[in-house]
Amino acid sequence: MKIGIIGAGNIGGNLTRRLTALGHDVSVANSRGPGTLSALAEETGATPVKVEDAARDAEVVVVTVPLKAVPNLPHGLVDQAAEGVAVIDTGNYYPQQRDGRIAAIEDEGLTESGWTARQIGHTVVKAFNGTYAQDILDRHRPAGAPDRLALPVAGDDEAAKRVVRELIDELGFDTVDTGGLDDSWRQQPGTPVYGLQKGVDEVTKALAEAPRERSADFRA
Ligand SMILES: NC(=O)c1ccc[n+]([C@@H]2O[C@H](COP(=O)([O-])OP(=O)(O)OC[C@H]3O[C@@H](n4cnc5c(N)ncnc54)[C@H](OP(=O)(O)O)[C@@H]3O)[C@@H](O)[C@H]2O)c1
Repeated sequence: MKIGIIGAGNIGGNLTRRLTALGHDVSVANSRGPGTLSALAEETGATPVKVEDAARDAEVVVVTVPLKAVPNLPHGLVDQAAEGVAVIDTGNYYPQQRDGRIAAIEDEGLTESGWTARQIGHTVVKAFNGTYAQDILDRHRPAGAPDRLALPVAGDDEAAKRVVRELIDELGFDTVDTGGLDDSWRQQPGTPVYGLQKGVDEVTKALAEAPRERSADFRA
C-alpha cells in the first residue's frame, strides 16, 4: 500500500521501519523537512517528503506528531490522498508535560481523536496511542502466537477501521474494536488499557472497565 507518515519520531520512525520491511511504499515527513530524514530514508528505503506532500495518493496516512503540533499541520492535509483514505491518529493529550491546555478536550469533553479529526478536517482511526514505540519493533508476532499483543482501535469509518485492523495484523498484533470516536476515551491516557501489553481478552476487559472521567494526571 501507499502510506504517508507525518511525524518521524519514536512512533513514526518505527512504523516507517516495519511498514517498509513489509514491502509498503512509505513516504515520511517531519517538521524540519526531508533533508533531515536522510538517515531514516537510507535505513528503510522510505521516501522523505515535505509534510504537505506526505498524504498524496496515500491509502493510509498516519498522523503521529505531538498533539500540540496538530493545529500547525497544513490545511487540507489529506485532500490529495486516495479516495477512502484511512487516517490513523496515534496521538495522546499530555497537558501537563507537553501539550498545554486544549479547551475543546477539557471543557467540551471532546475525545482526543475527535479533536484531532476536527483539526485536520477528516475523520481518523485511533490506533497505537497506548503502544510503546519499541514494541512495534520488538513484540510483533505471527497470528495465533500465544503471546501476541492486542491493540485497541476506534473509529467511525468502518471501512477505514477494517483497513487499519488488517494492517496492524500484518504488523504482527491483534486488535480489539473500541467502537466509534465517541467511545475512544476508553483507550486514552490514564485508562486501564493504556500501555497494557496483553492479548485480546485482557484488552477487551480493560476497555470495558475504563472510567469515563479523565484522570487528574491527564488534565490541565
Ligand atoms: N513515544 C511513544 O512510545 C508513544 C506511544 C504511543 C503514542 N504516542 C503518541 O504519538 C504521538 C507522537 O509521539 P512520538 O513519541 O513519536 O513523538 P516524537 O518522538 O516527539 O516525534 C514527533 C515527530 O513529529 C514531528 N512533528 C512535530 N511537529 C510537526 C509538524 N508541524 N509537521 C510535521 N511533523 C511534525 C517531529 O518532527 P521534528 O523532529 O522535525 O520536529 C517528529 O518527527 C504523540 O501524540 C504521542 O503521545 C507516543
